[in-house]
Amino acid sequence: MSSLKVLITGGSGLLGQFLNKELANHFNILTTCNQHTGNCEIFNSSKIDLTNFDLLTKLFESFNPNVVVHAAAISNPNAAMQLPAKDVYAINVKVTEHLAKLCEKLSVKLIYLSTDLVYAGYRGSMLKEDAKLIPISLYAETKLLGEIKIKNLFNNYLILRTALLYGFSATHATNHFQEMHERLKSGKSVSLFTDQYRTPLALHDAARIIREIIQKDLKTETLNFGGLERVSRFELGEIVCDTAKLDKNLLQKISLNDLPNYPAVADVSMNTDRLQSFGIKQQTIEEAIIHIMKYGTHK
Ligand SMILES: NC(=O)c1ccc[n+]([C@@H]2O[C@H](COP(=O)([O-])OP(=O)(O)OC[C@H]3O[C@@H](n4cnc5c(N)ncnc54)[C@H](OP(=O)(O)O)[C@@H]3O)[C@@H](O)[C@H]2O)c1
Repeated sequence: MSSLKVLITGGSGLLGQFLNKELANHFNILTTCNQHTGNCEIFNSSKIDLTNFDLLTKLFESFNPNVVVHAAAISNPNAAMQLPAKDVYAINVKVTEHLAKLCEKLSVKLIYLSTDLVYAGYRGSMLKEDAKLIPISLYAETKLLGEIKIKNLFNNYLILRTALLYGFSATHATNHFQEMHERLKSGKSVSLFTDQYRTPLALHDAARIIREIIQKDLKTETLNFGGLERVSRFELGEIVCDTAKLDKNLLQKISLNDLPNYPAVADVSMNTDRLQSFGIKQQTIEEAIIHIMKYGTHK
């Protein structure tokens, strides 16, 4: 167990609950939640609205972390569309900027969870980190602004352009993967896009890699943070069925063209050679799904 102190924001979220568990096994953590508790209650945690900068500054200075893993965000493009833009901006941009300022002032490393959606989604596949950035949603735009604020302030950062995360949630937070699995298990059909591509990363693997990244002490890097394989949503469903022995006939093919008003990004699959160049190795989807089916939720 290292004496490194790690502050986690968004600890009650989908990824946060995995970060809490993984990072608490290796470091001295303080994790934060706001409207939900998630599994934060079983870790050293604090309930805080991060947009309250006085409270955030006090929390930061009293814990005095070595590393911050900033996962808190309005993280869903559809949810962001339903909210006033200023509220999305407040957490996704202003809080990120404030954390970066605190990190800069107190010589703390900031690891920022950005998104694959900062890339132009129609440009083709396996994008490298220098690919064109064209965020097309408020969510993606604010996440990119978060990146820019950090880079303008200091060098002691790591930006992780995160792919679609999959796995089972242990809390209120849920995702498409979990809903798909629940429907398939109860014999219900699932409609999946054959023309929307991602390089998905399992939640448990993402948390493990973030732990390794902290241990490797990387900095001033913007990294694609995804899995090894470019798959459509339909292909991901097929791997789930094959691996978890579920009925593939329940999978129905749909196209993005079937839902003309759906704000979908076709292909932000990412090349992760740079991530791997630091000795990081992701699980294959099959390996990750075997792990997920074995361990279920992450409680
Ligand atoms: N999930 C994905 O597939 C995916 C893909 C790409 C990038 N990312 C990025 O990865 C990160 C984690 O995503 P996730 O799926 O774990 O998100 P999530 O499940 O939606 O969780 C969001 C977290 O942010 C916290 N939060 C939001 N507003 C807050 C505020 N004002 N004050 C304090 N906390 C606040 C939430 O706390 P409460 O719930 O307690 O209020 C929650 O813990 C995000 O930065 C997201 O942009 C995720």
